[in-house]
Amino acid sequence: MTLKPRLLWGGGVFVAAMVIAAITLMWKPAIVPIIPPPAASFDAQTRLAGARVVALGDCIVCHTAKGGQPFAGGLPLATPFGTIYATNITPDAETGIGTWSLEAFTRAIRYGIARDGHLLYPAFPYIHFTRMSDGDISAAYAYLMTRDPVKATAPSNKLIFPLNFRPLLAFWNVLFLRPGPQASDPSKDPQWNRGKLLVDGLGHCASCHSPLNLIGGEERGRAFDGGVVDGWEAPPLNALGAATKPWTQAQLVTYLRTGRASEHGAAAGPMLPVTRDLAAVPEADVQAIATYLLSVQKPQPAATGAPAQSVALSTDVQNGAVLFAASCAQCHGPHAPMQSIGERPTLAFSTAVNATTPRNVIQMILGGINWHGEDTMNYMPAFNQVYSDQQVADLASYIRATYSQRAPWTDVEKTVENIRKENDAR
Ligand code: HEC
Ligand code: HEC
Ligand code: HEC
Repeated sequence: MTLKPRLLWGGGVFVAAMVIAAITLMWKPAIVPIIPPPAASFDAQTRLAGARVVALGDCIVCHTAKGGQPFAGGLPLATPFGTIYATNITPDAETGIGTWSLEAFTRAIRYGIARDGHLLYPAFPYIHFTRMSDGDISAAYAYLMTRDPVKATAPSNKLIFPLNFRPLLAFWNVLFLRPGPQASDPSKDPQWNRGKLLVDGLGHCASCHSPLNLIGGEERGRAFDGGVVDGWEAPPLNALGAATKPWTQAQLVTYLRTGRASEHGAAAGPMLPVTRDLAAVPEADVQAIATYLLSVQKPQPAATGAPAQSVALSTDVQNGAVLFAASCAQCHGPHAPMQSIGERPTLAFSTAVNATTPRNVIQMILGGINWHGEDTMNYMPAFNQVYSDQQVADLASYIRATYSQRAPWTDVEKTVENIRKENDAR
């Protein structure tokens, strides 16, 4: 292939501009440390507002290790480039952000730069948080600086060369960071604008619900087309009308605040903690999120009708039927008490059961849903230790054949095997 000289020239200029931009961004000065301010220096109202901001931003989800102190860090985040540990954001002076001024905190949120000047990895979703208002940033600061300080240092990251060299992140930032608060769109009403701010900014929904490119950036123009995170599929958020029962505003609000919607299914995997956080914020915020989401829907291709189901049931489906009767029907069968009172969605409405790949159904069977809150309705046992790859695959194939109109999944057993391996490595 020969490139036109003009293109080459243009490309050269682009690369040169990028290198210059990145080099100027590589080294940032440290911001002078402060003595941790006393809790009393933050007023109660700002702290309260901060609790809401911190919930909307899921800060506690990433910044708390399994069984660890809230916000003390140490949770490993798996990326294709290795493991990154979330850091301690309690106000401990030595190991947390106790010596960070509001200015340093704001720079971290808006530009992904730590107080001492090192660049932060985008596993910290600053490319989204940068949209936050100054008011929200200072409220989050007030809230975090008035938590109990915890002495804890996160383990060091295990990243592949050369990504363990932080200054290189400057190149990434040139490509993916558009810093600054969100300007509101005067042609839209305040609720829509609030929703956009929460979805694109604090809620960083696209960070899971969008496909990522080879260097871990969200693919341009494909926000909300769906992604994969921690071995789960995060379904598209712009095709909510394609569900067996198209999502309504009310169902979205219920799902996002309770982790369950009667005409869809339950939030599990990495979505579960998001819904637990959203349960703690005013309903108006979640209404705004739902309003904005419903405004970004893509037109759906006309339904193509049900595929011809084969008349003779394959052996995997038959075997799956036996296992289902033994282990699942008491909750999911048509006569299960929770089905008949109409509280639990039939598997026919489930996004996972109707998805292109069996990934989330397999994750659900392997991991179940832990007890959470006081809501026993949400419990499903884990079958990881109970069934072989083949049996989990048979169950998935049975559910697909019985509850979905869509074509059977292929290579299900192989997928189970891979998912188990991925989960073990996590
Ligand atoms: C998706 C996971 C995730 C979420 C959600 C998240 N963080 Fe983080 N955060 C990280 C990771 C990972 C790091 C460490 C990055 C690094 O070491 O380069 C980090 C680093 C930080 C730092 C820099 C701390 C230091 O010592 O360098 C601050 C400040 C911070 N986060 C604040 C927040 C706040 C405030 C929220 C909520 C509004 C939040 N984070 C939500 C993953 C997350
Ligand atoms: C940490 C990753 C992550 C983040 C952040 C996240 N989601 Fe999700 N979301 C998922 C996953 C994974 C699923 C699938 C869960 C399942 O099948 O149980 C999901 C499912 C959903 C669903 C159900 C979709 C369907 O068709 O069934 C909705 C709606 C949703 N998310 C909205 C949001 C919104 C709004 C935000 C931002 C406020 C958000 N999500 C943030 C990972 C995430
Ligand atoms: C103790 C009750 C219980 C048992 C037993 C149980 N489940 Fe579940 N299952 C649940 C609950 C609760 C949910 C969350 C959604 C809901 O309320 O239906 C769920 C969700 C699911 C989903 C995802 C539906 C969605 O939310 O999108 C699948 C798939 C599934 N179960 C399959 C199975 C299979 C296969 C078995 C047997 C191997 C099984 N379940 C056994 C309670 C149960």
